[in-house]
Amino acid sequence: MDRVAMVSGAGRGLGAAITDKLLSDGWTLSLGLRDVAQAEQFKVNPDRLLVSHFDATDPASAETWVQATIDHFGKLNALVNNAGILRMVDFDQGSEEDLDDLWAINVKAPYRLIRLALPHLKACGRGRVINIASTDAKRYRDGTSIGYSMTKHALLAMTQAVRHAGWDDGVRATAICPGAIDTELLADLPGVTPKADRLTPETVADMVAFILALPNQASVPELIANTRLETVI
Ligand SMILES: NC(=O)c1ccc[n+]([C@@H]2O[C@H](COP(=O)([O-])OP(=O)(O)OC[C@H]3O[C@@H](n4cnc5c(N)ncnc54)[C@H](OP(=O)(O)O)[C@@H]3O)[C@@H](O)[C@H]2O)c1
Repeated sequence: MDRVAMVSGAGRGLGAAITDKLLSDGWTLSLGLRDVAQAEQFKVNPDRLLVSHFDATDPASAETWVQATIDHFGKLNALVNNAGILRMVDFDQGSEEDLDDLWAINVKAPYRLIRLALPHLKACGRGRVINIASTDAKRYRDGTSIGYSMTKHALLAMTQAVRHAGWDDGVRATAICPGAIDTELLADLPGVTPKADRLTPETVADMVAFILALPNQASVPELIANTRLETVI
């Protein structure tokens, strides 16, 4: 068995593209899905795929998923925190509940998974954490969700913290910061990048695979891919 990676929210959108790419690169995968039937789309030798129920709002499911991965494969080489939501929360619209959901799914769930996975990532000597952030982690752009942007900034801080926590044991962490990707996340969102100008999920999946292939000596804290010209990023 080659390297083992956990991917959250792997059933559709970017997560499905990352799963396809990593499978074709020879990775063995442990997928965390709310609906485990979504894994039927991946045609691969069952030896290379474990599917677990994972709901980012349910701490117990994070524990069960990490434990199932270790019980089944005996090791963990990478964690890809992909699952995420976008809710419009600014100073005029959105609710406290929307804000709580954003923090629960975009921040607390990755934190919990990293905490559970870190001992195993350290043990392999070349562990990797990939956090799918956003260009909204790098700056605030007028008209976007303040709530979403806050959570993605927090994910960036967490990525830096992982680099410090795991460095001496060979763990490297990267925040992938894409602009608009052509997935359902953007459906019905006003003012968003036109469809033709968006990144494809496959391009972002290639970015993830590229980072995962790098040796310990090439630590990339952030990889930003914007779809539009901006002054800061
Ligand atoms: N699309 C963009 O423009 C864009 C740009 C930058 C960064 N991102 C980030 O990319 C990541 C993937 O987003 P996407 O574009 O692929 O969006 P998407 O098509 O809406 O997919 C979201 C994924 O997150 C999962 N998810 C949502 N809530 C969950 C929960 N409570 N528990 C477990 N899984 C949950 C979904 O699972 P279900 O199928 O069960 O709903 C789905 O797999 C997110 O972190 C997002 O913030 C997206």
